Amino acid sequence: MTLVDKLNWRYATKKFDSTKKIAADKLRYILDAVQLAPSSLGLQHYRTIVVEDAEVRAKLREAAYGQSQITEASQVVILAAETGLNEDFGKKYIDNVATVRGVQREALAGYESMVLGAINGRTPEQLTVWAQKQAYIALGVLVSAAAEQDVDICPMEGFDADKFNEILGLTEKGLTATVIATIGYRAADDPFSQQAKVRRPKDEFFIHI
Ligand SMILES: Cc1cc2nc3c(=O)[nH]c(=O)nc-3n(C[C@H](O)[C@H](O)[C@H](O)COP(=O)(O)O)c2cc1C
Repeated sequence: MTLVDKLNWRYATKKFDSTKKIAADKLRYILDAVQLAPSSLGLQHYRTIVVEDAEVRAKLREAAYGQSQITEASQVVILAAETGLNEDFGKKYIDNVATVRGVQREALAGYESMVLGAINGRTPEQLTVWAQKQAYIALGVLVSAAAEQDVDICPMEGFDADKFNEILGLTEKGLTATVIATIGYRAADDPFSQQAKVRRPKDEFFIHI
């Protein structure tokens, strides 16, 4: 099956089979794909939180307007944007580049000033919005990687971010819950699995210039 076949197979799962757990190596593979998602300047200004704990998930479900996927899926993945992006964050990133690539930090001075300029040139609100956009890129990779592995997902924005932040202690970590995905296996009787995929017609969706 090609990636397009797999994307046709997947759908936003409304009813998960709560008896089915994702095998640890499969979950690791999907999360590895998320970690490889591209981000602006490579900053990865968000974090990925995986929640399996039943008690925590019961609270999250309440904060997600009772959506049953939160407790019925195998795990819930929360993509949480960094809210405290500052020079230190940028410098730490440059440190990491220098270490991983084995280059002198001074050789990265030009890149560092670009990174710090991108951070200092934004208001705190703009920085958070910027970070949130990166979380959505990770969501796209998560959706695709899960489909490749025949794992079901429901991407979700239908939750109260403030309540999620409180339940998961994200605010004190300098994070805000941005978008989430429940991940697991569809229930055999989820009627949504039988519905035709609705997308805008290609001639309306694509613009070739
Ligand atoms: C960012 C985002 C947020 C979404 N939020 C919810 C949600 O809170 N609850 C839900 O059941 N589905 C949610 N969906 C699923 C969409 O409704 C679904 O992806 C869309 O209708 C297309 O259908 P398909 O994914 O089955 O192809 C969300 C999808 C995205 C990408």
